[in-house]
Amino acid sequence: AALRSSNTKAYFCHELSQCLYDFVLQLLPTAEELDVKEDVRKLLEKLIQTLEPSSRLLSFGSTANGFSLRNSDMDLCCLIDAKERPNASDLVQLVGDLLKRETKFEVKPLPHARIPIVKLSLSATDGLPFGIACDIGFENRLALENTRLLYSYACIDPTRVRIMVLFLKVWSKRRKINSPYRGTLSSYGYVLLVIYFLVHVKNPPVLPNLQQIPPLQPITHEEMHIGEHNIWFFDDVETLRQRWRSQNHESVAELLIDFFKYYSRDFLYNTGVASIRAGLLKKESKGWLNEPDPRGGRYQDLAQERNRLCIEDPFENDYNVARCVTRDGLYLIRGEFMRASRILLHRPERAITSLAELCA
Ligand code: GTP
Ligand code: MG
Repeated sequence: AALRSSNTKAYFCHELSQCLYDFVLQLLPTAEELDVKEDVRKLLEKLIQTLEPSSRLLSFGSTANGFSLRNSDMDLCCLIDAKERPNASDLVQLVGDLLKRETKFEVKPLPHARIPIVKLSLSATDGLPFGIACDIGFENRLALENTRLLYSYACIDPTRVRIMVLFLKVWSKRRKINSPYRGTLSSYGYVLLVIYFLVHVKNPPVLPNLQQIPPLQPITHEEMHIGEHNIWFFDDVETLRQRWRSQNHESVAELLIDFFKYYSRDFLYNTGVASIRAGLLKKESKGWLNEPDPRGGRYQDLAQERNRLCIEDPFENDYNVARCVTRDGLYLIRGEFMRASRILLHRPERAITSLAELCA
């Protein structure tokens, strides 16, 4: 009887882990796609350098943090080393005009957005079956740093961390709860929820807290800060791999099941703030209470509120990454966590059935 053990938890998790691995693998970008994107980055950098020779164009977001799926958009950040440079809005206008003249991209400058960007897109062709979508921002050094932080976490335990994050990104997109414009959470927010879970919820932890490991050699205040933001984290992953071994040996499937369980019923949505830097914090102590969004106006009646769900940005500590999540959005997200939990408790004969149902 023990041989026919297909519905025991251990067997199911073993099989599900393998399925998750295979599923994610086929969604990774191809080498060709990565090459095309790198060529685009270089081309855009050359063009922008005709305006401002000291500028560099760097990748951030999923193309640079190890959590990229096939056809994901490109996030680029332009850094200008010159002492005197135009402000971000003017740059967006200048670069927007330049790229309209010199490239085939459809160009949309957004000089007055909270973070001014130039949006570029190229429709699909034979060589480029899904086209390209790209945002160029300026001087967004914190985004470069949080990209490096996520990349370092991805490197410490590449298999488990990457599979969990990539699966959640696909799952949240398929379940339509990955859209800050519609009151749900950004990809960046989901990644932070996973890291928070692996650093602070799992015991023993799967990941160390990189922001709390002191530097091997003393470093200056300037090196540790961008403006008033402390951007220190231990980024020497090689050293870390030699010195830090997780005592947690759970499989990806076990972690994922636990992740859904935790965010369906244990996380303190009403009072808690998920902070990768400092663990569970209180909304009250950060002054993050439910309040109408001051962008307010005609959105008031859509129950638009900040701070329903609170996720502290790792470096911009006064910034709630989940500020766009509305009451209805959070209701949807938690409903999806519960649905996923329920599906994974069923343990059908074949784990692939659960996976298909999860992302249906
Ligand atoms: P996909 O585009 O879905 O593949 O995911 P992504 O990892 O690129 O995430 P997303 O496009 O949501 O964000 C891109 C990058 O922008 C993130 O990795 C962060 O560096 C930065 N970012 C996005 N949203 C925020 C935010 O609310 N606050 C801060 N500080 N940075 C953000
Ligand atoms: Mg992106």
